[in-house]
Amino acid sequence: MTTPLLVRAARGERTERPPVWMMRQAGRHLPEYRELRNEHSFREAIETPEIAETITLQPYERYDVDGVVMFSDILTCLEPLGFDYHIESGVGPVVPNPVEGPADVPADHRDVETELDFVYDLLDRLSASVAETDAVIGFAGGPFTLASYAVAGGADRQNGAIRRFRAEQPAAFEDLLERFADVVAEYLRLQVDHGADVVQLFDTYASVLPPADYEEYVRPLHRKILSAIDAPTILFVRGMGGRLEQLRTGGADAVSLDWTVDMENAREELGTTPVQGNLDPTLLFADPETVRSRTAQMIEAAGPRGYICNLGHGVGKETPIESVAAFVETAKNWEWN
Ligand code: CP3
Repeated sequence: MTTPLLVRAARGERTERPPVWMMRQAGRHLPEYRELRNEHSFREAIETPEIAETITLQPYERYDVDGVVMFSDILTCLEPLGFDYHIESGVGPVVPNPVEGPADVPADHRDVETELDFVYDLLDRLSASVAETDAVIGFAGGPFTLASYAVAGGADRQNGAIRRFRAEQPAAFEDLLERFADVVAEYLRLQVDHGADVVQLFDTYASVLPPADYEEYVRPLHRKILSAIDAPTILFVRGMGGRLEQLRTGGADAVSLDWTVDMENAREELGTTPVQGNLDPTLLFADPETVRSRTAQMIEAAGPRGYICNLGHGVGKETPIESVAAFVETAKNWEWN
């Protein structure tokens, strides 16, 4: 058995070159994705394993990245708790039956295995179609980010609705986060059973909480979720630049940094903790030569041990293909001297 390069880096090993993949690598910047989406709705695409497999493999075929991230969405975890959702063009995610008071916080969840069976089917397929040297990456949303959608009923700048809910209904807030944490822990465990080599927890919005509240409500749940996973884990929370210690102690094997963090400083602060990231996704709108040099600087700063080359957040919608290719090639052709 060959261990995927990405798994070795996530475990903190020195690798001959950095493994590379991109958050949101499958999606709207690819013409072949947009073509398929003309024929199928977003829900249809993620819930039909054949279609989701095709979309997952599109960036693998085009760029030869070292990992494929299953084509799905964090919002699937709303369903076992009885929340519906859809993606509205030009608006974003919409939850038509949001939490309005403590009575709307579900006491229990439906069966995560049957409710999200299309995801495990997708992972079974991917583990058969992806080479042994490459990684299949599973993921889930973190409890705070999921609860934010469940309370606000959709995208919410500054996450004001969930923060207000936390102030008005602290016990219900805590219950809601715990319900999501139970679903997510079970969901990630099942993903690993179905062949995910690595899993990433996206609690993208959790940094909007004051640090003391993050410490009290969020970090213990991250630790609980991640400690039960029998595969390397990566934790992404956007905007944790001044709080890397909180991220480091979140229970993941590796931490994923956004683009506002200086890689060299991060390495000093994080010690031996493996790191993923963190090129500014908008830099991919620069010419390929600039992308190559900025990517090389970042790899240099990260060093050869426990490093996964990635962006600081997802690939943007209109990102030029040549620049994405230049980013990936820089990591793939890298040699440590
Ligand atoms: O390639 C990959 O990285 C895998 C797929 C993936 C998607 N969403 C596909 C998607 C992943 C890992 C996500 C995570 C996700 N989804 C997060 C956490 C990470 C992050 O990027 O912040 C969040 C907060 C969501 C919720 C969500 N779903 C948003 C904000 C959107 C975009 C809505 C919009 O109109 O801009 C979605 C829909 C979505 N998820 C799309 C894709 C490719 C766009 C669908 C389309 O319009 O074709």
